[in-house]
Amino acid sequence: MSAAGPLTDRFGRVHTDLRVSVTDRCNLRCFYCMPASGVEFRPHAAILTFEEIARLARVAAGLGIRKLRLTGGEPLVRKGICDLVRMLAQTPGIDDLALTTNGVLLPEYAGDLKAAGLRRLNISLDTLDRKRFEEISHRDELDRVLEGIETALRVGFEQIKLNAVAVRGRTEADAVALVRYARQRNLPLRFIEVMPLDGDGRWTRAMVLSGPEILELLSRELGPLEPVDSAGSRAPATEYRFLDGGPPVGIVSTLSAPFCDRCGRLRLTSEGKLRNCLFSHDGWDARAVLRGGGADDDLARLFREAVAGKKERHGTDTGHVAPTQHAMHEIGG
Ligand code: 5AD
Ligand code: SF4
Repeated sequence: MSAAGPLTDRFGRVHTDLRVSVTDRCNLRCFYCMPASGVEFRPHAAILTFEEIARLARVAAGLGIRKLRLTGGEPLVRKGICDLVRMLAQTPGIDDLALTTNGVLLPEYAGDLKAAGLRRLNISLDTLDRKRFEEISHRDELDRVLEGIETALRVGFEQIKLNAVAVRGRTEADAVALVRYARQRNLPLRFIEVMPLDGDGRWTRAMVLSGPEILELLSRELGPLEPVDSAGSRAPATEYRFLDGGPPVGIVSTLSAPFCDRCGRLRLTSEGKLRNCLFSHDGWDARAVLRGGGADDDLARLFREAVAGKKERHGTDTGHVAPTQHAMHEIGG
């Protein structure tokens, strides 16, 4: 483990991105992200304070982290989220601050988020059909999400992207309408292959509607697509464009074409565990260091340990993805 320099792991991957989950709570209940019943949320005292998060961000920036993304659960249900955005936007070394939201609270918050210094927004949108939205998320909130997207567009972020989780037997009916919607608004849209992170093991490989299948369906209905040259990009999405123009359509093919070899991400859970992979079974307890009177050097050492412990692929040495006990809402997408 190197004592100085960037956060480089055993495979030469330099870590520049930190995803910060600010809460495990959510105002939706998407079936692929939370167990169907018996979800217990963490008590407030277990969750990192804004000051603790800001301190970790400063330490991380000193180690070469340049990009922060706030996630959840749903980050906008955390009280005072705009204050946190303001604090993080002022961290020296952090040159990109983004947030992933389900959009439900954007009608209220979009303006304040922009004013607080948020630059980029990812908004989840799996369907434009009210009944299917409710089947997926167990809440009747599609109208608010759509209003939230319009509000965010008016506010004028540097970038807004849409995310749709791709599930066999569901997304086939939504994909074309989603692409049309995104093209009307000139918004990049990404389909994310559903991952085994529902927390109670209902995921099966058969549920994955794969990237190639989505592309086939889109080109059949909407015309030919070509890959966008993304040499050197570290983004997880492979991007395509319709030959007749419009915003890119991306595919995040975690399972059918893993991008672990160019992964430069770390994650911080809302209770302050550092994780080096969505699928890893380990966490490094930053909260214990923070609340045990640790110095910034101790926190830096923890970041280095988490990076040094990163496995080659999908949190394993074999590359075989096994459903974990962890659910997406606890880790942060
Ligand atoms: N597989 C793929 N994507 C998921 N998300 C949540 N759970 C899963 C899963 N099991 C997505 C959300 C959101 C982002 C935070 O992660 O829809 O776009
Ligand atoms: Fe909430 Fe996002 Fe999970 Fe859906 S996927 S339950 S919106 S955190």
